Amino acid sequence: MSLAGEIYYRLCSRRVGHSCARFVAGAARRLGVAPRDFAPVLALDLDHAALKGLLQLWPQIHWSSGDGMMPVDQLLAVYRLAVNWPASGDTVELGAWVGLTTCYLATACRVRGEGKVYAVDTFAGTREGDTTYQSVERFGGSTFDAFTDQVRRAGVSDLVEPLVGFTAEVCESYSGKAIRLLLIDADHSFEGVRADFEHWSSYVAPGGLIVFHDYLMHDVARFVDAHVRTNPDYDMLPGEVVPNVMAVTKKAGTVACLPRDEKALARARASHQKVTVR
Ligand SMILES: C[S@@+](CC[C@H](N)C(=O)[O-])C[C@H]1O[C@@H](n2cnc3c(N)ncnc32)[C@H](O)[C@@H]1O
Repeated sequence: MSLAGEIYYRLCSRRVGHSCARFVAGAARRLGVAPRDFAPVLALDLDHAALKGLLQLWPQIHWSSGDGMMPVDQLLAVYRLAVNWPASGDTVELGAWVGLTTCYLATACRVRGEGKVYAVDTFAGTREGDTTYQSVERFGGSTFDAFTDQVRRAGVSDLVEPLVGFTAEVCESYSGKAIRLLLIDADHSFEGVRADFEHWSSYVAPGGLIVFHDYLMHDVARFVDAHVRTNPDYDMLPGEVVPNVMAVTKKAGTVACLPRDEKALARARASHQKVTVR
């Protein structure tokens, strides 16, 4: 580890050091001299427990995005929601790629002391129908080994359950608790986001979050704006937390129907179809 990294870890592992570093970073930001998109500085805004989670993660997985697909500011925004949002339950990630976001979500579970992450992916780089990410070839055609390796290095294997398959099929056998945070980041076509929302939103706990990544993509925004904003079961809160990350809350008074509640689930999905399909 570099000397700067060593100082950062030592300083920020203490509450008082964290406060000082936060003060200096805030001043640097106001003067316009803070480095942009640099995780150690951006993370200083987190509360101490949340930052400590990252201080355990980062020696195992470097704070740069590496092979992950989410830029650092968005990754931290998702982590902040995962660690601070008050709802209880498990976390489901649709679209895990090589597990970078998974590790942050699992770290949030560790910091909170509850729940685990179900990471759903074909691990074959599938998107928008049956096309594949060219970069999956770099991983020998499957990202599964890179995913499990990264999760193991992060020390969160006990908190992560990979579910291999298409998101719309795997949902039938979901065995976790009601979902406190559902991250939708798989197929970004309009139909893909619609299918993921319809198949998985019934499992979200009242008060739970649905986070749409890549909201800046036209189809993602088109779906959210046309069919989630108008859906009476959701509040547009907390809204766009950083550009490209949009989160909504399932209202209190709604219900979570898990696959084991077959009849209730069929009813919930039928009522969704009315709201969301055009
Ligand atoms: C944008 S990447 C996820 C990136 C990851 N969340 C991150 O930030 O590092 C999308 C992933 O979704 C997966 N995927 C796309 N469509 C899918 C589908 N219908 N079912 C399962 N996985 C899918 C791809 O294999 C790919 O790994």
